[in-house]
Formats: sequence, structure tokens, C-alpha cells
Amino acid sequence: MEHGVADDKTVLHLTNEKPIIIAHRGFSDEAPENTMAAFHKAISAKAHMIEFDVRLSADDEFVIFHDKKLERTSEGKGLVKKYAAKELTRIDNGSWFSSRFSRERIPLLHNIFALTKHNVTLNIEIKPDVESSNGIPVEEMLVEILAKERMLHRSMISSFNHKMIKRVKHLHHEIAAGIIYNPITNFRRSPSQLAAAARAEFFICSKYQVNHDVVNDVHENGLKIFVYGVSTERDAGRMLRLDVDGIISNNPALVRRAIEVYRR
Ligand code: G3P
Ligand code: MG
Repeated sequence: MEHGVADDKTVLHLTNEKPIIIAHRGFSDEAPENTMAAFHKAISAKAHMIEFDVRLSADDEFVIFHDKKLERTSEGKGLVKKYAAKELTRIDNGSWFSSRFSRERIPLLHNIFALTKHNVTLNIEIKPDVESSNGIPVEEMLVEILAKERMLHRSMISSFNHKMIKRVKHLHHEIAAGIIYNPITNFRRSPSQLAAAARAEFFICSKYQVNHDVVNDVHENGLKIFVYGVSTERDAGRMLRLDVDGIISNNPALVRRAIEVYRR
């Protein structure tokens, strides 16, 4: 396989559907983002893929959490990377959303692997600023874990940090990888040029950045496009008309309904 070209070896081989429905931070409209509750709800809503964000704890364990700091989405305070994994897993990670979720904790990466028995695939987003304290590059640690857990063909790795993605592909040619478009640093190059530079098969951008030219450039170069920020049926309808390959949404049930309506 030529690098940078999506074929049936990527995570997409696990479903024939297009577009695939990707639950952003789980079903994060209905449960606190990046929690097991949100992931279980995504599976119940029949999302094909779960997107979630990873960072490292002080003792170099992968934890599932979006922000650098704990405040917005947990009862904790300060930087995630200042706490050991054990300490992070004791923090109430759900009350900020609703008292019904007060028992949610910060998941470790390992906690999510068992969910793939429900035929859901994983979109693991490495936050761009993550660095290990043991000197081993974070992308190397991640690929090693996925290989050991036999998750390489059930996962894709994505990041705003395209250097990380390039190193992921260098370490393991077959793992599916996606670059996330950053309008501030990436605007000079086309989606396919950016993807080729990182050897990625997937180009990921927001609903505000996608148009026919972007989709054509991606498809003409044998790549796939996922779009995030899709929050209404109108948004989803636009994505279907644009012929995107994956729709990333906080509400996978809404996306599924929109697809059904569109196909009728
Ligand atoms: O996969 C795209 C999306 O997750 C990127 O933005 O901030 O929600 O992680 P963010
Ligand atoms: Mg993300």
C-alpha cells in the first residue's frame, strides 16, 4: 500500500457504512465528555467510532481527558500532568455535568479497550502539547500499547500535532492516522499536501473549514475526510451532501437520524 492512501486495512474496514458516525468525546451531549458513561451511551446510539482525547499523568500513564487543566470538566484543580494516574482516577469527573454522573472518574486509556467488543472503533486524539517525563516520545508509547493490546487495527490516531502523526506512521505503517487541520498554522497548504507530509490517510477539519474543494482534494488523492462540530440536523445534512467519510458529533443519535432522513 502506498503510504497516505486509505484502504480496507484502516479502521474503516470494520464497517461498510458511509459516512461513519463518530461520537465526539463519547455521546457528550448526554453524558460528561470523555467518560465511560459517555462512551457507553455512544455505543447504545450505535456510533461506529468513539473519538476521545489522551494526555499523560505525572507517572506517564495515558488518561482520557481533553483540557490541560482539570477545572472545566472535573472537581480537580491544576494541570493533569502534575497528578499520578491513581490520583486522577479518584477525582469526581461527572458532577460538573450533572449530579447523576458524580460517580464518573477520569478513565485510563486501558479502560476503553474492552468496549471494542461491541464493534466500535477508537479515534485516539493525542493532545498536541503532551510530553512524557521518561524521555520516550508519547506517540511511541501509544503505538507500543496499542500493539501489545492488539488494538492497532481497531484504532486510529489523530492529532493537531502533525509531527506526532508523522512519527506514528514511521513507527507503524499500518495504523490509521489522521491530521487535524489547524487554520492558524496550516492554511498555506492543501489538505492533501498536509496529509502527505504526515503520511496520514485521514484529513480532519471542522464544519466551518469544509467545502466541496476540500472534499474533492481529499478524495482525488485517495484520502478520507472526517468533519467535527456537527451539532444540528442541518449541519449533518450538509455533510451528507458534501459526501464526507465521517461525521464527528457530540450527538451520534442526531447524526444517525439525519442519515436516515437523507436516505428516505
Ligand atoms: O477530532 C476532532 C476534534 O476532537 C478536535 O478538537 O478540541 O474537540 O479535541 P477537540
Ligand atoms: Mg478531540
